[in-house]
Amino acid sequence: STVRTAALLFLGRAVVRTQALLGDPAARLFGTTPTRDPYPTYESVRSSGALVKSRMGLYLTASHELCDAVLRDPAYGVVPAGDLSPIDSSGYVDGRRLVNPVEESFLVRNPPDHTRLRRLVAPWFTPRGLRAQAATVERVVAEYLDEVGDRPTFDLVGDFAARVPVRVIAELLGVPGADQAAFARWGKALVNALDGVRDLRELRALHEGLREFEAFLDDLVAHRRARPGDDIVSALVAHDDLTREDLVATTELLLVAGFETTVNLIGNAALAVLAHPEVRARLLDDPACAEAVVEETLRLDPPVQYTVRMPFEATHLAGARVPRRTPVVLLLAGANRDPAVFTDPHRFDPDRPDVRAHLAFSSGIHYCLGAGLARMEAAAALRGLFGRYPNLRAAGRIRRRPSRLIRGAAHFPVTTGAPQ
Ligand code: HEM
Repeated sequence: STVRTAALLFLGRAVVRTQALLGDPAARLFGTTPTRDPYPTYESVRSSGALVKSRMGLYLTASHELCDAVLRDPAYGVVPAGDLSPIDSSGYVDGRRLVNPVEESFLVRNPPDHTRLRRLVAPWFTPRGLRAQAATVERVVAEYLDEVGDRPTFDLVGDFAARVPVRVIAELLGVPGADQAAFARWGKALVNALDGVRDLRELRALHEGLREFEAFLDDLVAHRRARPGDDIVSALVAHDDLTREDLVATTELLLVAGFETTVNLIGNAALAVLAHPEVRARLLDDPACAEAVVEETLRLDPPVQYTVRMPFEATHLAGARVPRRTPVVLLLAGANRDPAVFTDPHRFDPDRPDVRAHLAFSSGIHYCLGAGLARMEAAAALRGLFGRYPNLRAAGRIRRRPSRLIRGAAHFPVTTGAPQ
């Protein structure tokens, strides 16, 4: 039988169960076959009311005001660890307990654990921390574009966008150059598990990857204990009270959270530029406008489409009673098109003054720690890409990722030549 336990990251178990309910907006969004275009569903959710109850008893909202309010409300928490598991219900494999990636990290923990763990890595993501990484980001972008070189066609995702974020994170964590290829492989395996593990074969492969990854991290920790550097792992091992599980989970979170999300931001931003010739012209004229293009991409086509919160106690929300621990699905991508906040919300407009109100990086205490880094990477990637290939064109069918949570292209063939 199918093992469908995973769909982790921001997703509640109840959401997965709604797959059975056809005709329900929740089923349309989270059903076995992901919709190619989820945006009409977000519109229909919002037009049915601020808060919509699915037939499963799950709540959904595409209202910007409500999403933001729930995310900032201490009466709501993230779906707690243990509620859904990509490993199995026990977490034991061959008698050994594997750390559940992401699941045990501060992304899915509530205060006070959340506060304590997030604080340990926060210094790398402050404006000052980011300035120190700017050179690394530029170097990595240039290096991968050099590898593409003068090839007439390439895969914008596979050959470029997918390589940048994992490399930047590897450098931040202090992963030695020789190990970075393996690190990227594990990153990919963990990310693939985010949308669900379909069968036992995939489950075994995930176990195997996790086991290797943990062994690798144990080595890295030993190495950094002996010879500390100015990287994140060195800083974490200096905290004697940090458990091995917390260290592994934090490191895995940084790898997973900063990986596919950023890949898809780069891809979605490039798609937007290709679709809007006037935006391309401006970008070529003024590379600094890459930042505005990235920001508007985050609003209009965000890599992370939704997140989930549950009230610790029964509560009222938008006039409805929400029983305790009932998942409320916050459709961030829908909130980003709420006409109450954004005028002409479906239009791609890098000049909109209020763009930063988008919820692509969530809101409240779990606001994306890597937001600044992601913005920096995507802007550098866009400047590099169009600076080097001003005539970049799509060259064939763009295949979307078969994913509900993460939106973006899996395969994005492009040609670098002049227009015919
Ligand atoms: C949390 C999106 C890139 C690290 C989040 C959340 C979202 C998000 C929506 C909050 C989820 C929730 O509230 O339930 C994105 C997007 C990215 C991106 C769209 C790229 C375009 C990154 C990068 C890093 C990162 C590059 C680090 C290297 C984190 C961490 C958290 C987080 C550590 C957990 C924060 C917490 O729980 O306090 N991200 N992210 N993200 N992100 Fe990102």
